[in-house]
Amino acid sequence: MSVIVVIGLQWGDEAKGKMADLFSEQADVVARFNGGDNAGHTVVNQYGTFKLRLIPNGISNPKTQCMIGAGVVVNLETLITEVEMIQERGIELESRLWISPRCHVVMPYHPMIEEIYETAKGESRTGTTRRGMGPVHADKVSYNGIRLADFGDLERLRKKLSIQLKVKNALFRAFGLEPLQLEELLEEKMAQYKRLRRVVREPYGYLQEALARDACIVLEGAQGTLLDNNWGTYPFCTASNTLAGAAAAGMGIAPQWISRVVGVAKAYTSRVGSGPMPTELLDETGETLRREGQEYGTVTGRARRCGWLDADAVQFTASLNGATELALTKLDVLDSLPVIKIGVGYRQKGASPQAEEGLWHYWQLDACDLDEYEPVYIEMDGWQQASSQARRFDDLPRQAQAYIRKVEELVGVPVRYVSVGPEREATIEVKG
Ligand code: GDP
Ligand code: IMO
Ligand code: MG
Repeated sequence: MSVIVVIGLQWGDEAKGKMADLFSEQADVVARFNGGDNAGHTVVNQYGTFKLRLIPNGISNPKTQCMIGAGVVVNLETLITEVEMIQERGIELESRLWISPRCHVVMPYHPMIEEIYETAKGESRTGTTRRGMGPVHADKVSYNGIRLADFGDLERLRKKLSIQLKVKNALFRAFGLEPLQLEELLEEKMAQYKRLRRVVREPYGYLQEALARDACIVLEGAQGTLLDNNWGTYPFCTASNTLAGAAAAGMGIAPQWISRVVGVAKAYTSRVGSGPMPTELLDETGETLRREGQEYGTVTGRARRCGWLDADAVQFTASLNGATELALTKLDVLDSLPVIKIGVGYRQKGASPQAEEGLWHYWQLDACDLDEYEPVYIEMDGWQQASSQARRFDDLPRQAQAYIRKVEELVGVPVRYVSVGPEREATIEVKG
């Protein structure tokens, strides 16, 4: 049937979880391929509301296998809490959960190192989720990581951890922090591993067989394209690759199998953490978006920064991912606004609107340049009526339809889904 990749086209929290849950109805497999428990994917379905950080959104379909691929870094404590939370809700999960033994494990020293760096950076800190993502990925690429596979051999694990503690404890002492104790750490992590041992199994074989029989596989991206380690607003980004291309690498599915890339974009923009966000609104309208959109982080509870849709950036991220279709989410959050703006490019701050040179594009500017540019907007009429009950495109107010068509035109990719509420059924499939 199809391999569908669900990718965030902005700075995360685009409602990828909701879309992955929707697709899981048809899916044989739903898998996470990047990031770690820095993600927070909220889904509202027949079992209630779930805030998932590591487990993919296939939980509510008993026929769906839920997989965590080699590209994900796992925090064992988060994973155990999540498995227990799901099982307490009466959902059988263990028999259909697969976690690659190749996954790197977040150790207690990773958030500690992150904290040291964030404090040292002061004002210029990244504003991370404090889940140790930077340090665990740094250890991974510099051959210092601990993988789930290492837990199969206690002596090997002890040796690896003792080397890491030799280096890391020296750093902690230098910063006046308590060093970590090898045996205590080993005991704690082994106990956690034992609780998960049965589900630590490589998904590759099952996936190959599923691909051969044309099964539906949903690859649920975490974070968003503008947080990608290569293409995002570095260093205000995340540690993993968040693009559709990373789905192939992180899951072990060759790129030619991918048939659909669903680019998920909010009808406005949000961002949590530091870094440039050209369309950010620091006024009443920004407050309205935050209030109506309930824009508070799932992992940290931080208020998300809100602003207008940046269609120039989304045009870039959609093409970077090869989006075959768009899911435009949280349209209902715009319901009360009399006028809605869309960013269509940038101009240097202070440049006259009549200046000869054309508009700058997001992709031409580095994160450290963006602050010197301001967005250029087009304005559209708002609809000032509720959209959350709409279930067909024609049910939407005329101005909302025009807004969707304009986004489609600016981004150059058809909008196939419009989301008008958190619930699964609050979704419009746009035909033709
Ligand atoms: P993700 O990280 O991309 O999965 O997104 P999050 O779950 O972090 O953030 C999206 C939030 O918006 C969640 O609380 C969802 O329940 C909620 N949500 C999803 N779609 C809609 C929608 O169309 N309208 C509204 N009002 N809320 C939505
Ligand atoms: P989902 O999957 C929104 C942001 C953090 C910070 C930066 C680096 O729910 O969309 P990290 O902890 O990854 O080192 O933080 O990235 N960030 C997210 N923002 N949604 C996410 O995930 C995020 N994951 C990381 O706020 O700015
Ligand atoms: Mg989120």
